[in-house]
Amino acid sequence: MGETLTLAVDSVVREHGDLHARLAEWEEALAGLENSNFHRSQLALQQLWRLVPFFEEEVPRHFRHEEGDFFAALQERYPDSAPMLRRFAGEHADWTREWRDYRMELLYADAIGETNRLYELGTELVARLRRHMQDEELELVVLARQQQS
Ligand SMILES: [Fe+2]
Ligand SMILES: [Fe+2]
Repeated sequence: MGETLTLAVDSVVREHGDLHARLAEWEEALAGLENSNFHRSQLALQQLWRLVPFFEEEVPRHFRHEEGDFFAALQERYPDSAPMLRRFAGEHADWTREWRDYRMELLYADAIGETNRLYELGTELVARLRRHMQDEELELVVLARQQQS
C-alpha cells in the first residue's frame, strides 16, 4: 500500500486511542449526574465543562483530518469505497450536530439544574463515537491494511 495511506491509517488509529481515553473520562463525569445530590451533580457539571474544549476542538479536527487524508487516500486506492466513505463522513456531520445540542443542554443544566436530558445526550454521544471508531477500524483500517505484508 502507498506511503500516504500507511501514514494516514497509522495516525487515525493513534488518534482513536486518544479519543477513547477522553471518552472514558467523559463517561465517568456523566456517571456523576446519575442519582446524584446537588453537590455531587455540581462537581459532575464542572468535570463535564472541563472536557468541553477537548471535544470541541479535537473531534472536529480528527474528522477533518480523516476526511482530508485518510478517506482521500483510501478512495484513491479503492474507488469502490466511495459510498462507504460518504456514510462515515455523514456520521461525522451527525455527531457534530448532536454535540451542539449537548453544549446547549450543558448551559441549560447550569442555569436550571435539570440534568436528565444532558445525561441522555452525553451517553448517546459517547456511545456513537465509540461505535463510529470501531466501525472505521473494522471496515476502513482493515481495508487499508489488507495488502500490507
Ligand atoms: Fe471518523
Ligand atoms: Fe475516526
